[in-house]
Amino acid sequence: MKVLAAANQRWNLDLASVHFPWSADHYLETGETLPEGALDDLRENYAAIYIGAFGDPRVPDMKHAADVLLGIRFGLDLYINFRPIKLYAEQLSPLRNKGVADVDFVVFRENTEGAYVGVGGIFKKNTPDEVALQEEIHTRKGVERILRAAFEYAMEHGLAKVCMADKSNVMRYGHDLWQRAFAEVSCDFPRIEASHLFVDALAMQLIRKPEQFEVIVTNNMFGDILTDLGAALQGGLGMAASANLHPGHTSMFEPVHGSAPKYAGQGIANPMAAVLTLALLLETLGHQEAAATIEEAVRQALRDGATTADLGGRRSTSEVGDFLARATGTT
Ligand code: IPM
Ligand code: MN
Repeated sequence: MKVLAAANQRWNLDLASVHFPWSADHYLETGETLPEGALDDLRENYAAIYIGAFGDPRVPDMKHAADVLLGIRFGLDLYINFRPIKLYAEQLSPLRNKGVADVDFVVFRENTEGAYVGVGGIFKKNTPDEVALQEEIHTRKGVERILRAAFEYAMEHGLAKVCMADKSNVMRYGHDLWQRAFAEVSCDFPRIEASHLFVDALAMQLIRKPEQFEVIVTNNMFGDILTDLGAALQGGLGMAASANLHPGHTSMFEPVHGSAPKYAGQGIANPMAAVLTLALLLETLGHQEAAATIEEAVRQALRDGATTADLGGRRSTSEVGDFLARATGTT
């Protein structure tokens, strides 16, 4: 929020913010997660939604996170989970001989169906005969629109290739639909090289040769898993930003990471992922210069060693925030 204030002032963005208290504290006090009418309000009255991190050990079933986070993703039909994997400084690379030029791609994670639909059930619970069913749902429309979004992004950004990952060798129905949709959609983008990898092979290639990727598109669950791997390639979850998009609609921006409850209150959590997520938000709203300046502020902090301990620095969360706000406001 400090960085937003700095950007707001410097570029006269005229962005007012309203704070909603939909935290675990609030849930434990009131039982309320996403209140009645909230989705309509967000859809109609806001340019963007900026969310912190969810997760609290006092809410073991993550009810508030599921209701608020998944509620917004599904309720506002934010079908693109856009997750850039970008290494901002050489010294953050976990891979020997891989630098900033090698780790720079984006993941288009399908965000409204797949394994996240919550369809299934439990039969004979807590007996030796218990049966659990958990369904994946893949719709032609849902798959096609995320594939198109990935190809369109490649076109718009002068990129040459899109790689689709699935497990169609085993998931013979749902992921077969992905195969057929991908073959069809890719025909509409003849200038983009369309390739496919089974997700297990992709996981290996991301470590072996990340420089071969520009745009990766995949289903909800695989995208979830791969973007944590991607975060590691960037220097950890403290660096990984994410946007939940539906072009033309109110979109939602949240870092890839959770709340790291074991670090709560110690002032040691890395704020860079959240700040880079703000840059994505501003970019989506058309404030390119502000977004680029924030990214540059992060690079500068990394150069100057103005980081939290996870990146080898000695600054607190709030001090890194101050550095980034100052650099955003002045450089
Ligand atoms: C993420 C998170 C969420 C997800 C959880 C908190 C439900 O891991 O945004 O990647 O699985 O999508
Ligand atoms: Mn995740």
